[in-house]
Parts: sequence; structure tokens; C-alpha cells
Amino acid sequence: MTEVLRLAKLVVFGCQMNERDSETIAGYLEGAGYGFTEDELKADLILYLTCCVRGNAEDRALGNLGQVKRLKKTRPGLKVGICGCMAQEGWVREALDERLSWLDLAFGTHNIHRLPELLARLDSGERVVEVWDSPQEVVEDLPVLRKDPLKAFVNITYGCDNFCTYCIVPYVRGRERSRAVFEITAECVKAAESGAKDITLLGQNVNAYGKGLGPVDGLARPDFPYLLAALDEALPDGSRLRFTTSHPRFVDDRMIEALSSLGKVCEQYHLPVQAGSDKVLRMMNRGYTAKEYLNMLDKVKKAVPGCAITSDVMVGFPGETEEDFQRTLDVVEEAGFDSAFTFVYSPRKGTAAESMPDQVLEEEKKDRIGRLIELQNKISLAANRKLLGSVEEVMAEGPSAKDPRMCSGRTRTNKMVHWPEADAKPGELVRVRIEKARTFVLHGTRADRT
Ligand code: SAH
Ligand code: SF4
Ligand code: F3S
Repeated sequence: MTEVLRLAKLVVFGCQMNERDSETIAGYLEGAGYGFTEDELKADLILYLTCCVRGNAEDRALGNLGQVKRLKKTRPGLKVGICGCMAQEGWVREALDERLSWLDLAFGTHNIHRLPELLARLDSGERVVEVWDSPQEVVEDLPVLRKDPLKAFVNITYGCDNFCTYCIVPYVRGRERSRAVFEITAECVKAAESGAKDITLLGQNVNAYGKGLGPVDGLARPDFPYLLAALDEALPDGSRLRFTTSHPRFVDDRMIEALSSLGKVCEQYHLPVQAGSDKVLRMMNRGYTAKEYLNMLDKVKKAVPGCAITSDVMVGFPGETEEDFQRTLDVVEEAGFDSAFTFVYSPRKGTAAESMPDQVLEEEKKDRIGRLIELQNKISLAANRKLLGSVEEVMAEGPSAKDPRMCSGRTRTNKMVHWPEADAKPGELVRVRIEKARTFVLHGTRADRT
């Protein structure tokens, strides 16, 4: 163990990719002798791991930076850094020489592995700004300091080649790259050995897994179903395996067959639909029609009865009329998502949609998102009510945040369940009879005790 000489506060915005990157960054910080604190007044280094997928994510990070700039005035020894997706954006890179020139450290999404050297340079009093335009080859053996001992995130691909017209991710995360099967398997097995029981495979489009890799076991290259089968075999019994995100356009019969036949793969699939109007889907470059999406969903639901489907839905894409929006409501209704993340379209610099005509008025967007959320909440509640009376396998996570006499855990379908119990062991699989259904949680009692 390195002796802890100073403290870092790591502030994380954005998606699970950033969560995973934060665990790597924490690993490097620990290696450089940092301990961790939540208290900015105690921190020697505050590092912001940013997201720029929507304007509000960016605004929150900028708001935080504004506050910490004032703190830095009263504590001249404090170092402040920025990393993550925003650091890759052109305007931020320019601002680092101007209005963000007070920052001590900046690095991007492609050179996290350079952190040991960057931190050493920071220690020697240098201001360190190093952002790469694009990634080199996949870097392996990254450290990981997991936040949650039960849950592990494991990257299988990096970057994205889809270029949905609204999305900035391909610009800030680079071209799509896959990790080798043996590297992923080794990381998953190691995570399981160190106590992880719920493993989520990460990629912007996991179905693209394997592109660019060499032949394996008689296949021209490994693909996502092959990887799932390899992991299903390699992980210990009782492990739960999940993945996110699969792109609806690339869900095929081979993948559906893998989902239905592999016991450790949980019955929960995130399949972002984005919109219901074929015109809007085309403008978004999503590569499917509403009908194709619903047909695919039907096949998945038939192959895996009782599976939970979650989605991302966006309102206010340029050119979206009231009628187009109605199609979104129709699809949401017909798909019957267990839950959905709902977003207001936010123009992103450099994307194709930014310069499309007929940007939707803010009031219109607000009105539509309200109606969409109302509908989805009704559907989520109805989906949860269907579970009333059933007995679910739940993985205990620990005491409920609100009431320590209750335990919280998740079903295989990733639904949160609370039940009375003060001392369930985290990671233990218990059986809970569902007695109360709310929009976002279920309540019940242990069915495996008399
Ligand atoms: N790769 C994943 C998710 C990427 S970002 C996928 O393809 O599904 C997560 C979600 O943010 C997207 O699914 C989309 O619904 C939303 N999103 C992306 N760009 C956005 C933008 N410019 N405005 C509003 N929402 C956006
Ligand atoms: Fe963005 Fe589309 Fe890639 Fe998802 S698939 S990260 S929405 S470009
Ligand atoms: Fe994720 Fe935000 Fe980057 S959604 S990939 S952290 S832009």
C-alpha cells in the first residue's frame, strides 16, 4: 500500500462508460498516493469527469467549475482538473488556453492510461494539458478501483461508428474498437473472484462487438453472441451478466438465441427506440422503422418470456411535428417498456442535426416531454403491477437508504425491490414475494423463510 499523503475528490457525470473510466482513474490516483474524499474543503485535487451528450450535462459541469474556481482563490494549493468527454470537444480545448486557463490538469478520453505520468508532472508544479485527437490501439491492463464490490462494469467495445445525427459520442469517444475475448473474460473472471456478482458489459453498440478482430473457433471473427457464450461458461454459478447498449438495428436471430439459451445472461435488455415516426428515425440515421423495431421486440419477448425491456426516448428532434410525436407515444404504448429514459433533444456542436431546419421550440419540447413521461410512468406502473403475487429471485444489495430495517436488492430484470430484513448479506440471492408495486420500485416479503 502506498502511504496516503493527499486527498482527491472525483466528480463523475454521464453514463456507465464514465463510471467505468472513473474506476480506472481512481485506480491510478490510488497508485499515485491519493486517498479519496467527498469534501471539497479537504481535497488537494478535484477532478471533473465530464459528459457532453446534452447541454444540461455540460452546464452542470461548467457550473461546478465556476464554484470551484472561487474556492481555488481561497485555497491556492488546490489543484483542479477536467477530463472525460467534454475535454475532447473543440471549444473546450480552445477554452483551456483562455477562460479555462486556470485549470491545472486536463486530459481526454483517449489517454487515461497516461495518467501516472500526467500526475507526476502535476506534482512537479507543471500545468498539464494533454488531449489526444483520436485513440491509439486498445490499451489493456488498466487498473480498477471498484465503487461497488457487488457490481462490475467491463468495456467490450470503445467508441462508436454509428453517427446518429443528434449524437456527439462518436466525436468524443472515437472510432469503434473491440477488446479481445480473452482480455474481457480475464477481467470478468477477476472481478467475480474479487466479489462481483453482477457484471455489465459496456459498449455504445455491443452488437458491433468483434469487428476488426481475428478468427476464433471456426468463426471469421468473434461476435457478440460468441462473447456472451464464452462469459456464460467462464463465470462462476450465481453470477449475473448484463450488457448495454444494444442497437435495435443489429439485434439478429443469433443474438436472440444467445439471450434465450444462456443462463447467466439476465432477462433485461436496453433497446433505445429514440422515436416512433419513421421520418424522424430516418433523419436520426437510426436504420430501422417503427415497425421493424416492434417486430424485433416481439421476437425478443417471445424468445425470453418475462424479460424486461428498457429504452431511451427523445422528443423535439428537428422537424418533429405533433403528428410525429404522436407516433412516438404510439410506439411507447405498444412496446410497453418496463422503464425508459426520456430526453429533450439538445443540439450538439458538430453533429448533423445541429444544422437541420425546423428546430422545435422549447415550449413545445417541454410540453411533449411532460406528456411522454406521464404515459411512460403509467406503463411502468402497469408492468410492475403484473408482478404482484409472483416470487422473484432478488440479489440483496444492503440496507435500504431510506429505512435501515428494510433491505434493497434487484431482480434479474434489474427492478429494485425492498423487503423487511435488517441483515441480509450483500450478494445473497433471496426469494421475495412481490406484494406492492410502485412506478419505480417493488415491495415484498421473503418467500424462502417460514
Ligand atoms: N449508444 C447508446 C447511448 C448513447 S447516449 C445508444 O445508441 O443507445 C444515451 C442516450 O442519450 C441516447 O440513447 C439518446 O436517447 C440520448 N441522446 C444522445 N444525444 C442526445 C442529444 N443530442 N439530445 C438529447 N438526447 C440525446
Ligand atoms: Fe450515439 Fe447512436 Fe452511437 Fe448511440 S449508436 S452512441 S446514439 S451515435
Ligand atoms: Fe457517456 Fe456522456 Fe460521454 S453519455 S460517452 S459520458 S458524452
